[in-house]
Amino acid sequence: MAEQFVVGRGVGRTFGSGESSVIAVRAASFEILAAERVAVVGPSGSGKSTLLHLLAGLDEPTEGEIEWPALGARAGLRPGPVAIAFQGPSLLPPLSVLENVALPVLLAGGDEGPATEAARGMVERFELSDVSAKLPEELSGGQSQRTGIARALAGRPRLLLADEPTGQQDGATGRRLMDALFEEIARSGAALLVATHDTRIASLFDRVWSMRDGALDGGVVARTR
Ligand SMILES: Nc1ncnc2c1ncn2[C@@H]1O[C@H](COP(=O)(O)OP(=O)(O)O)[C@@H](O)[C@H]1O
Ligand SMILES: [Mg+2]
Repeated sequence: MAEQFVVGRGVGRTFGSGESSVIAVRAASFEILAAERVAVVGPSGSGKSTLLHLLAGLDEPTEGEIEWPALGARAGLRPGPVAIAFQGPSLLPPLSVLENVALPVLLAGGDEGPATEAARGMVERFELSDVSAKLPEELSGGQSQRTGIARALAGRPRLLLADEPTGQQDGATGRRLMDALFEEIARSGAALLVATHDTRIASLFDRVWSMRDGALDGGVVARTR
């Protein structure tokens, strides 16, 4: 059986308390296996980003539990085996595109030469060569988002979580971005989980999870032994 990268049992996340509380994720059970490519689809507000933050170990469930059997303990996930490309702005303002992309490799203890070389490869792959010396404030939304994806991949994660990666790209750029993403994932043998509300993108994946009002469908595969 393939290695289990992430397993969740009865995972819930409630924000706030009392009358104003919001249940963003409810009783979700799921697993992601080695080298799997999973799409999470659902309308805006259905809980996709909250789920990704839980999968990255950036946030903790208020119910149930998540484990990363083949990747290690929560504290050691980042920078390291798990990387996330956020839906919104996440670049460090004083660093150039190239420096932002090289950062995870440096933080993981890599030397500057190889880190910059790895970053340059990702910058080219995600069509950022023309802006590699620019600061985040000088970028378009689509360029910022591609920089976040290049940065997440530069550290060679075993699991990449990408939150609405094509949300700010035009159609043709979005398709090339997905091609590049799949190619890099296939090259490194990493697993990929992408949150999207675009069902055309979801059709490119091995498995599709669907979210509605915090409830997750399709996370657990029934096995025939
Ligand atoms: N930090 C937070 N505090 C309070 N409510 C939140 C927070 N983050 C998300 N929510 C709420 O949780 C629900 C799910 O949000 P989100 O996970 O961002 O959905 P999606 O990514 O599918 O659009 C929404 O109702 C949202 O308003
Ligand atoms: Mg979201």
